[in-house]
Amino acid sequence: MALPAEAYLWFKSLHIIGVVVWFAGLFYLVRLFIYHVEAQELKGEVKDAFIKQYSLMEKRLANIITTPGMVLAVSMAIGLLILQPSWLYERWMQVKLLFVSLLLFYHIFCYKLMSLLANDNCKWTGRQLRALNELPTLFLVIVVMLVVFKNNFPTSSATWLIVGLVLFMAVSIQFYARYRRLRNT
Ligand code: HEM
Repeated sequence: MALPAEAYLWFKSLHIIGVVVWFAGLFYLVRLFIYHVEAQELKGEVKDAFIKQYSLMEKRLANIITTPGMVLAVSMAIGLLILQPSWLYERWMQVKLLFVSLLLFYHIFCYKLMSLLANDNCKWTGRQLRALNELPTLFLVIVVMLVVFKNNFPTSSATWLIVGLVLFMAVSIQFYARYRRLRNT
């Protein structure tokens, strides 16, 4: 039985919804890891209560939002490729798949960090986790640009200006967060 003509658009809509949910989960998950690591500096019952609550929130976020978002995005993407297999021969798609593979590694690594944190065995500092949390932003920018520009990926000075601005914003946010932390201690 042939699929209706709009099946491709259905797959694409659900793919984009999955991507949005997946990234929302990934961004918030590592933010929770940062709070979790900072709570380890507390003492006594307050520390235990915070750690227990963060572990629960991380587990729910990962299993109810982040992973289902990833499964939706990837399964709809497979649907898109089945309907349009010629995309696989395009250079932009091959580069996109490379970055998506890195993103999947990042996803799995978040689970590893979650289990280390749950066992009070995580050696990552809040600062390192903040830097780690910039990685999915980079993947997001590259993958969205690849899928929009396809084989005409821009390399003009305007592009480098945008890249520079995004980097400047990311670094400024880091500095501002650091300044606020130092002011509160
Ligand atoms: C399993 C990995 C993935 C595969 C095989 C895949 C494949 C595809 C395909 C075939 C399209 C349709 C392209 C078109 O009709 O022009 C598409 C659209 C799109 N993908 Fe993915 N994708 C994957 C993961 C991702 C990820 C991780 C992101 C975001 C970071 C993403 C963002 C998008 C966006 C925004 C569109 C809509 C682009 C447009 O219509 O202009 N995809 N994807």
